[in-house]
Amino acid sequence: MIRLAIRVARAEAEVALAELLALAPAGVEEVDHGETVEYAVYGAEGELPTLPAVRAAAGDALVAVTTTRIADDWASRWRDFHVPVTIGGRLHVRPPWADPPADPGSLLDIVIEPNQAFGTGAHATTRLCLEALLALDEPGGPLVDLGCGSGVLAIVAAKLGWNPVSGLDHEHTAVEAARENARANAVTLDLRHGDLLHGDGAAPSAPTVVANLLRPLLAHIAENGFAGEPPRTLIVSGLLRTEADAIAGAFAREQGLREQARREHGDWAALTLVP
Ligand SMILES: C[S@@+](CC[C@H](N)C(=O)[O-])C[C@H]1O[C@@H](n2cnc3c(N)ncnc32)[C@H](O)[C@@H]1O
Repeated sequence: MIRLAIRVARAEAEVALAELLALAPAGVEEVDHGETVEYAVYGAEGELPTLPAVRAAAGDALVAVTTTRIADDWASRWRDFHVPVTIGGRLHVRPPWADPPADPGSLLDIVIEPNQAFGTGAHATTRLCLEALLALDEPGGPLVDLGCGSGVLAIVAAKLGWNPVSGLDHEHTAVEAARENARANAVTLDLRHGDLLHGDGAAPSAPTVVANLLRPLLAHIAENGFAGEPPRTLIVSGLLRTEADAIAGAFAREQGLREQARREHGDWAALTLVP
């Protein structure tokens, strides 16, 4: 097993992380070194992102890339950084090896296997989308999760009462992971493989749409619109705080959706947009 570590300047770390997560959607280990931050991924030879791809993703923030062959404890290291998270006092999202909440009360216990796909609940953008979903006045009706990753948002939506819930991702591994996670959480989802960038232009729509994607893809959706009726509620994230105004502006201009709520955590932001 190899540990591929990318050290980047702290000032640009969040931007570099956003790019690195596109290469390593299952998540990265984060080690704080003060002026620099190290992001690490684990994998067998041939499974890791290539060095040119990593260098391009880190861009000017790059300080160093190192690869280390590691002993058998990689699995426990991997597990150590996928920890259970409680969101909005209502959701407990955990990997399968973590215990359910001791005193669940009204907490919904959601189990997400983080293997091959982005979305364990621990990333700020996933959390922000879940908080935005929890805050909606009238949960229910059809919902689409664009870029479903592990399926965490779609699974939570189904548990909260949206129906039918569908999800789409351009990674086959993500669609498969979402299917397995849906089974593990006993919810029925319509999960499909699809590419939001290279399809026929318009994104699938429903009265509620969640889209935790990076800024360029959100800008593409703002420009190309939705197939059929635009959503009555659109939750977007995957955005840096500094990018939120531009994306809110693009959806207002192109789709007539205005900003109803903005949530921020660290350098990340999520927007709730409505007609
Ligand atoms: C930031 S992750 C979000 C995952 C999950 N929805 C969550 O909130 O944790 C973005 C997801 O979008 C998917 N994605 C990226 N580009 C895409 C595209 N062009 N078409 C469809 N899905 C895409 C990625 O594979 C990834 O699973």
